[in-house]
Amino acid sequence: MDVKVSIFGFGNVGRATARVLLKKAGFIQRRYGLEFKVVSITDRSGTLWMPEGIDLREALTVKESLGRISAWTNDYELYDMGPKEAVRDVGADIVVDVTNEVNAHEWHLLALREGKAVVTSNKPPLAFHYGKLTKEAERRGLPYLFEATVMAGTPIITLLRDGLLGDSVERIEAVLNATTTFILSEMERGATFEAALKRAQKLGIAERDPRGDILGIDAGYKATILHCIAFEPMTFDNAEVSGIVEVTEGKIKRAGKSGKTVRLVATVEKGTVTVEPREVPLGSPLAVESHENAAVIKTDLLGELVIKGAGAGLKETASGVVSDVVKASLSLSG
Ligand SMILES: NC(=O)c1ccc[n+]([C@@H]2O[C@H](COP(=O)([O-])OP(=O)(O)OC[C@H]3O[C@@H](n4cnc5c(N)ncnc54)[C@H](OP(=O)(O)O)[C@@H]3O)[C@@H](O)[C@H]2O)c1
Repeated sequence: MDVKVSIFGFGNVGRATARVLLKKAGFIQRRYGLEFKVVSITDRSGTLWMPEGIDLREALTVKESLGRISAWTNDYELYDMGPKEAVRDVGADIVVDVTNEVNAHEWHLLALREGKAVVTSNKPPLAFHYGKLTKEAERRGLPYLFEATVMAGTPIITLLRDGLLGDSVERIEAVLNATTTFILSEMERGATFEAALKRAQKLGIAERDPRGDILGIDAGYKATILHCIAFEPMTFDNAEVSGIVEVTEGKIKRAGKSGKTVRLVATVEKGTVTVEPREVPLGSPLAVESHENAAVIKTDLLGELVIKGAGAGLKETASGVVSDVVKASLSLSG
């Protein structure tokens, strides 16, 4: 089956997704009988639209060497359209939002109203508009999938959405932000907060504007999304979030002396989401290192369940996006 895909955002995750679609095309065809045709790519410079399917290799070369999709050589394939126009006008089965546009919920809704499935790695639409978006998708019988918003490709969303259907979740405790883990680990090795942050930025682990990570906002978005799935819709405004800015070297040393480590831990219970730096025992599943994330999910029937895996990284995030694109396609074809 041919599946037409529109990609919004051709930054790190968008390009990683395109690379995985290229690399795994044969595997996906053999295993699922699906052939993806990317019919449009939109970045902030405009939209490249080719109903017969874009040559992804060429698109990657253009974006990587010239910085914008509108540097494409054939002018007649370029359109001065933002996401809203492209969602409305481009004939696609699946809209993939891998932008960091905070107001993207507007065109997610539009896509659903146009009868298109939506796959996204973009957190704010879910952290602020989960109820509205999932209700619209349900009403129209369309897939609205967002595995890569939490723990990259590690399938915590699928676990909570499609598994444990007879269980009631009682609590989730999780480390959901790898940048803060990196900074706290560097501090354990003796670095100051400032030096650790600088190193994270130099290695490309932290953004140039690191506030989203170090103030706990990114972890707060993710924890809010987990709350929406495990319990009921809520918004990030109701989450209690403190970051790692006030974690001192002294606090880290004291934790180390008592066999503990400091991590930015999210606690999700019915009606409450809290994100704060906490001491966790070194043997705990939450004492993660490097780019790993972990969640301990407690339910009434199963007891404690641990899910742990990559929580960042480009091919790891593309894993979640592509898995959702396959899932959406299979659901549309069924
Ligand atoms: N990086 C990760 O490991 C990771 C993991 C999980 C989830 N995510 C999420 O995935 C999304 C993408 O991350 P990223 O690292 O790829 O970010 P990025 O490199 O900054 O790329 C963002 C892309 O979105 C485009 N964009 C932003 N606003 C737009 C708009 N209004 N219209 C059209 N295009 C727009 C940008 O266009 P230009 O290229 O023209 O600027 C860029 O291509 C974010 O929401 C992020 O939080 C990332």
